[in-house]
Amino acid sequence: MTRPLRVGIAGLGTVGASVIRILDRQNEAITQRGGRPVQVMAISARDRSKDRGFDLSHFTWFDNPVDLAGATDVDCVVELVGGADGAALETVRRALSHSKHVVTANKALLAKHGLELAKLAEDKGVSLAFEASVAGGIPIIKTLREALPANRISRLYGILNGTCNYILSRMELEGLTFQECLKDAQRLGYAEADPTFDVEGFDTAHKLAILTSLAFGTQIDAEAIYVEGISSIAPLDLTMAKELGFRIKLLGVAERTKTGIEQRVHPTMVPRTSSIAQVMGVTNAVTIDADAVRELTLIGPGAGGDATASAVVADIADVATGNVQPLFGAPIDQLEKAPRAPMQRHEGGYYIRLTVHDRPGVAAGVATRMAEADISLESILQKRSETAANKDPHGRSGTPVPLVLITYAATEASIRSALEKITGDGLIAEPPQVIRIERE
Ligand code: NAP
Ligand code: HSE
Repeated sequence: MTRPLRVGIAGLGTVGASVIRILDRQNEAITQRGGRPVQVMAISARDRSKDRGFDLSHFTWFDNPVDLAGATDVDCVVELVGGADGAALETVRRALSHSKHVVTANKALLAKHGLELAKLAEDKGVSLAFEASVAGGIPIIKTLREALPANRISRLYGILNGTCNYILSRMELEGLTFQECLKDAQRLGYAEADPTFDVEGFDTAHKLAILTSLAFGTQIDAEAIYVEGISSIAPLDLTMAKELGFRIKLLGVAERTKTGIEQRVHPTMVPRTSSIAQVMGVTNAVTIDADAVRELTLIGPGAGGDATASAVVADIADVATGNVQPLFGAPIDQLEKAPRAPMQRHEGGYYIRLTVHDRPGVAAGVATRMAEADISLESILQKRSETAANKDPHGRSGTPVPLVLITYAATEASIRSALEKITGDGLIAEPPQVIRIERE
């Protein structure tokens, strides 16, 4: 019988424990797919005494994952520790330098050290597989790398963080608070060890950096991404979105523009009738606009143990076949260092929620500043405030009330400049809320 692929698994948390269970459950199918058996030899985590739902005594235990990476009876190291540096980085570096294949779900690591690690893997002629690093169970890496060579991709966008989509969905549909939803996402194993990465948009940015490289044949450049998270989204924004025919999603967008590749992550108003608006809960969706296929959308579970382990196991089976693919679709020295488009040049529609002092001339003052910046308003809506009306039936009380503007296409620079002037004029009581609009 062919020699088994001997695997070492570093990290036995949400994803690692699921990988062990699936490798056991699907043993026969995985052997068929990989052309040889896959055998877990070694495991590593911090706490040996933790109950992980399987018998640890079947495997060699390592307290330190870096030692596991050097073990002579391991051919393929599966890194599921997490974190851009520290133990995860040292484990992957050690494994690759010892000419061992690596499978990882660690997008933070790849976004920061992807080029260096890819070069190391290439020099050693081994695989560095990372299907599980983006969009959980959706095979987006394979799709971009293997299924679309006939295409020139112009735009790629999507919901890339399950935790944020889960939070926004439940806040809107069930009226729960941000903190309640986040707590549930953590309990269900969707969130990162530090959930700031999820809610402040960094996790989406790490994933977008990887997808941009694959889609456009460029070097990973996570630093170039404009990032905003969802922590500033207020229940009022969700209500206003509904009233105006939108839904709020945290999107990652990478797009070819005249000034370079624009990469941005931010909460986005999408038309309520659009297909991306229907993607709810922990589900992710990635849409690719390309010349031959026109539009391709992949939808599936974006986080969680089994969904992510599904992608990890697919990579392990690929490694077993011995088929080593160029990591980002091309040899590393052929990846372009593409110019990145500055966010100030971004052009699109905007939702702007101002908290204005309720008095005569305020709406006119806001509209004047918008007109001076050459921004055309599609709609302007002042919500009636019971408190303000009770205080002063003539509307001169200065009580803070929401004023919502929807603009036609405008540049980020002009919006920022108009808002600076509106703030300087003393028309608003709180910093403005700005959410970009993306129409399909
Ligand atoms: P997790 O539940 O926090 O598990 C992390 C595991 O790594 C734990 O078993 C922990 O040991 C071990 N570990 C942490 N630091 C260590 C160290 N210094 N030395 C040895 N072991 C260490 O994380 P996870 O959710 O499974 O995520 C793992 C990776 O997959 C991350 O890169 C994450 O971004 C990625 N990912 C996760 C998901 C998801 O839905 N959860 C989806 C896609 C990608 P103990 O158990 O002993 O504490
Ligand atoms: N924390 C991540 C998410 C895990 O919620 O999408 C999947 O990468």
